[in-house]
Amino acid sequence: MPTLNEVIRSTPKAELHIHVEGSLEPGMMFDLARRNGVSLPYRTVDEVRRAYSFNNLQEFLDLYYEGMNVLRTEEDYFALADAYLRRAAADNVVHVEMFFDPQAHTGRGVPLRTLMDGLDRAIARSRERGVSVSLILCFLRHLSEREAFETLEAAEPYRDRLLGVGLDSSEVGHPPSKFSRVFEAARDLGLRLVAHAGEEGPPEYVWEALDTLGVERIDHGNRALEDEALVARLRDDRIPLTVCPLSNLELRVVEDLKAHPIKRMLDLGLVATVNSDDPAYFGGYINENFRQVAEAVDLSTEDIETLARNSLAASFAT
Ligand code: ADE
Ligand code: ZN
Repeated sequence: MPTLNEVIRSTPKAELHIHVEGSLEPGMMFDLARRNGVSLPYRTVDEVRRAYSFNNLQEFLDLYYEGMNVLRTEEDYFALADAYLRRAAADNVVHVEMFFDPQAHTGRGVPLRTLMDGLDRAIARSRERGVSVSLILCFLRHLSEREAFETLEAAEPYRDRLLGVGLDSSEVGHPPSKFSRVFEAARDLGLRLVAHAGEEGPPEYVWEALDTLGVERIDHGNRALEDEALVARLRDDRIPLTVCPLSNLELRVVEDLKAHPIKRMLDLGLVATVNSDDPAYFGGYINENFRQVAEAVDLSTEDIETLARNSLAASFAT
């Protein structure tokens, strides 16, 4: 009988909730800061790691946007994505649907072409190694509808390099309905639709993501469990949830990994998946998320296989 860790390691899986900027490891942050002449508020890698202690989503986002300020050149974006994709392949990830936040780069003067070309080159390399990768452009929900429209318009020349659009950043106070017209325009371009909802925001935001944005997957979705009718909707329509256990722990969405709802989601018949969200900030890539949550809530071999199978079924790959 293989051990649970062997099952986790050897099972092919898809990663559907990874922000490429959230895979920026402190070591690379220092290298790029030096290369680009950017000053950092930290002197050592240890100091960075000590700063990564969060009470909520916003405290994390403040450091996440600050960290990515070292990314400037096409080579930087290539290095970032290439490192993540190699790391994912080592975890037996066979397919990735990767988020990126264009507004967090164009807003500080990096041309969209620079990041698109760097990411694209890393994606091509990954495909040559046998791991398929698609890109999902996320709108920053703390910014305006108009800025989201401008971003979508700027991305149109890259339409063929995009699988879909998503919605991320500060959730509470920025309901999905704020972006319903942008998502309608994205759908008209043939893009697939996902959104973060129910991470810190209430079940109502998950309803809105489904009914006003028309999303096909919910990123996180933890707080959907507070609403029985919503659980029934997600189950009956087989709407996948891209769940991120270590992120939930580090951002205090759950108090303790032992209280993580992943097992309950499976028992309720939901199409739950396990993902890493921002692995450089939350202490682990996808298999580490599987290992820690499996131990905390006592997942079985069958549960691991179900979660991995769900990830492949929930992907937009044919
Ligand atoms: N951007 C990167 N990680 C995020 C998360 N967990 N929630 C919202 N926005 C994000
Ligand atoms: Zn996320």
